[in-house]
Amino acid sequence: MAVLRDAQTVDDRPPDPDPWEVHATWWQDGFTDGADAEYVEQILPLAAELLAGYDRVLDVGAGEGQVSRLVAAGGAATVVGVDPTAAQASEATARGGGPSYLRATADDLPFDAASFDAVVACLVFEHIEAVDEAIGEVARVLRPGGRFAFFLNHPLLQTPGSGWIDDQVLDPPEQYWRIGPYLVESMELEEVDKGVFLPFVHRPLSRYINALTDHGLVLRRMHEPAPPAGFLDRAAGYRAAVTIPRLLVLVADRASGGTGGL
Ligand SMILES: C[S@@+](CC[C@H](N)C(=O)[O-])C[C@H]1O[C@@H](n2cnc3c(N)ncnc32)[C@H](O)[C@@H]1O
Repeated sequence: MAVLRDAQTVDDRPPDPDPWEVHATWWQDGFTDGADAEYVEQILPLAAELLAGYDRVLDVGAGEGQVSRLVAAGGAATVVGVDPTAAQASEATARGGGPSYLRATADDLPFDAASFDAVVACLVFEHIEAVDEAIGEVARVLRPGGRFAFFLNHPLLQTPGSGWIDDQVLDPPEQYWRIGPYLVESMELEEVDKGVFLPFVHRPLSRYINALTDHGLVLRRMHEPAPPAGFLDRAAGYRAAVTIPRLLVLVADRASGGTGGL
């Protein structure tokens, strides 16, 4: 009985609070509204360029809406942002600017097939475990010929355990970028700031590329920009790693012949 009571006690505990609900303000304060050099100097200009001319745009994992607002300001007729986190979706709605917002996860998008001309996902899929389902949903809601602009933390160069090594013990000293266990798929709560733990999924680049092609999303372009000046200026260690990209952007178009595997 004691074992059963203990088990019930454990089962009855409320679930851990969702880390994104807890830390939405941390994200909004530190990375939006002009606060972050990588967004201002690199991510937002690239998103504007890649999504220009598309009329109906879906922003998956929209957060507080900075990419959605940008696309709406660029002239898209309909911009919809989805995000499961209430604290992000409500802030996005409050910040306004034209888009509308819904709470939904990427693996279960509440839209008809072929509803959008373009889909963007910006620094979202590294927080999603159901990657195949989510990419399948992106392909489903895109019209044939529609575009997917896919922004990721670079899956090869930003693995868990990667970083700049300045080895002064060796003679002569060596400086190099260490890559962590690249082929190992993992989901970890990472402390990205003091007391801020967020879930990160690492998977090799081939997982993303193959999931895209399996769902009829044809790769058109790949961008690996150097970290922008405003980021490098933040610390001497960053400047040493100027040749190591932090961002990977894949641009894929939905094949005209459907979403089946190629
Ligand atoms: C790093 S923020 C990026 C927000 C926005 N795309 C931007 O670039 O400003 C990641 C977002 O992914 C959202 N997210 C987490 N899991 C998700 C899922 N399964 N489906 C869609 N979005 C998710 C979080 O709520 C969070 O708002």
